[in-house]
Amino acid sequence: MMAVGLQFFHLPPEEKEKLYSDEPSKKIRLSTSFNIRKETVHNWRDYLRLHCHPMEEYLPEWPSNPESFKEIVSAYCREVRLLGLRLLGMISLSLGLEQDYLEKALGEQEQHMAVNYYPQCPEPELTYGLPKHTDPNALTILLQDPNVAGLQVLTGGDQWIAVNPRPNALVVNLGDQLQALSNGAYKSVWHRAVVNAAQERMSVASFLCPCNSAVISPAAGLVRDGEAAVYRSYTYDEYYKKFWSRNLDQEHCLELFRNDRLQ
Ligand code: OGA
Ligand code: NI
Repeated sequence: MMAVGLQFFHLPPEEKEKLYSDEPSKKIRLSTSFNIRKETVHNWRDYLRLHCHPMEEYLPEWPSNPESFKEIVSAYCREVRLLGLRLLGMISLSLGLEQDYLEKALGEQEQHMAVNYYPQCPEPELTYGLPKHTDPNALTILLQDPNVAGLQVLTGGDQWIAVNPRPNALVVNLGDQLQALSNGAYKSVWHRAVVNAAQERMSVASFLCPCNSAVISPAAGLVRDGEAAVYRSYTYDEYYKKFWSRNLDQEHCLELFRNDRLQ
């Protein structure tokens, strides 16, 4: 997966530019930074964003250069989905919910992938690969470059710590929707990616996303008697539009959906 991703980003610009778009709703696009329509300062990242489920619907549009791209990436996506659904089952149990609770609450889940490419950067202290953000989806499974570190997470004590790559390991990140569904029991962690002066870096992020029409609402069993749920109900469609209408580096998007927020 890593090798074919890197081969893609090493293609000549004329080959890649056919896929370029800054429109977040496109099902396949190559872009740069995070959301160049909204941000005033750009980041040192290029990314290929693909919708991956249902696979048959999207596969024909995927790059056929490198030649092995479709075969390798589709096999990877299928495996990641199975892993993600297993994890959702275990997360449900860990909250004292039925094993299939989250899978049902999220509806027929979409799956997106960001193949991230962070070129070698001459002045890494002046930029980020990705600035501080939380993931707007339900669950993220991240495959990191085995040789180059870059991912950092913010701890409760307001310190950034490096999540260095480990051989054959994936990083699992809970997104905003699991924070909402768990009524705040699980936190969608702030994270960012820094860049490197000596080496390029890659990562592959797979996002399990609620179905657009899914109504996200804290699980009733997790709201204490007599108390209001932390977050109001909303559809994922509403959340996703809000997320992409902002710049990163602002307050947690979920804060806008708190029940106790003053309008
Ligand atoms: C992301 C992300 C981190 C990384 O794609 O949302 O946080 O290490 N990526 O590339
Ligand atoms: Ni992220």
